[in-house]
Amino acid sequence: MASVTFEGIRKVYGSEVLALEDFDLTVRDGEFLVLVGPSGCGKSTILRLLAGLEEPTEGKMLIDGRDVTETSPQERDIAMVFQNYALYPHMTVYDNMAFSLKMRKAPKDDIGEYVREAAEILDMEGYLERRPKELSGGQRQRVAVGRAIVRHPQVFLFDEPLSNLDAKLRVQMRSELIRLHNRLGATMIYVTHDQAEAMTMGDRIVVLREGRIQQVAIPSELYEKPCNRFVAGFIGSPAMNLLDVALRGSEIVLSTGDRLPSRWTAREGEGYTFGVRPEDLNLRSDGSLTGGIEVVETLGNEKIVYLSVGDEQLVMRCGPTTETKLGEKVRFDVDIARAHLFDPDGRRVAV
Ligand SMILES: Nc1ncnc2c1ncn2[C@@H]1O[C@H](COP(=O)(O)OP(=O)(O)OP(=O)(O)O)[C@@H](O)[C@H]1O
Ligand SMILES: [Mg+2]
Repeated sequence: MASVTFEGIRKVYGSEVLALEDFDLTVRDGEFLVLVGPSGCGKSTILRLLAGLEEPTEGKMLIDGRDVTETSPQERDIAMVFQNYALYPHMTVYDNMAFSLKMRKAPKDDIGEYVREAAEILDMEGYLERRPKELSGGQRQRVAVGRAIVRHPQVFLFDEPLSNLDAKLRVQMRSELIRLHNRLGATMIYVTHDQAEAMTMGDRIVVLREGRIQQVAIPSELYEKPCNRFVAGFIGSPAMNLLDVALRGSEIVLSTGDRLPSRWTAREGEGYTFGVRPEDLNLRSDGSLTGGIEVVETLGNEKIVYLSVGDEQLVMRCGPTTETKLGEKVRFDVDIARAHLFDPDGRRVAV
């Protein structure tokens, strides 16, 4: 087990592709840290740097305080599980898991013990003699994780390991990986572009955008206090409603001309963004805003209602038994105490 520190990491591919900049982060010993962000934001790059598959352009990396920036991948004691975890098709599950230990010339008894231990952790004891093509997708995924476990690494890296699985299996594997983390207590860095996966799995989450860290926080803080407009829109599904507004005195003026009381003491002016989550809009017969129901998604446990308000589109989360009629005009309110304001640079206005 180990802590991991990135200091001032910058990575430029070739002469001009800036993949990471000013990347400073400490992952605590035993932490399950999730890196999340849109495609191309640098998630895989940071894992590849730590694993020693790429070299940083600037900055250094420490594992348990030891500078590993210049060391070979073998010296780093890290195991990585990739999205495309190609298993060796001609080898049994046992041999797939044992492979890296054999390559390192580990004693035969140790190999047997480690593979059986990993198989037990992953509930794969009955499958050791099978070949990958005789396994389900989830079982193959477990073999890929098993290959990492047998090495008893200080740090596990996961690069979107579940994205090849169907939705149901993905949810199941998420909780299996969390249980694995609880059991091993190892430091794990997990990359995903799926904010729901990040929220359900991470002890802490790092949101990346275009190679720069936006926010590092526990899931509830990320949801309740997004540091900027990007994080606000990225975390949560359906996404937070983000409206262009102006601040006038003690009021927020929407593009529709509607006014809402402001609880923020920011300078008057244009260019602000008002953010409100779908669950913080409430249908009320005496509500101060009016919208037309355009689309209703009935999900069973809730309804997602899309409203048109002037030229704006708003998404509202309603209870499953809420009466909704397409085309109907409805009145609703905003829970101002739970709403957010972002300044013209996109930064959260504290209050
Ligand atoms: N070997 C490479 N040569 C040049 N550019 C690269 C190389 N690898 C990655 N990049 C670029 O660096 C940036 C970050 O890539 P990276 O693979 O880290 O993104 P990612 O966040 O993992 O994306 P995804 O979610 O699609 O996997 C992208 O703009 C990508 O095109
Ligand atoms: Mg990637």
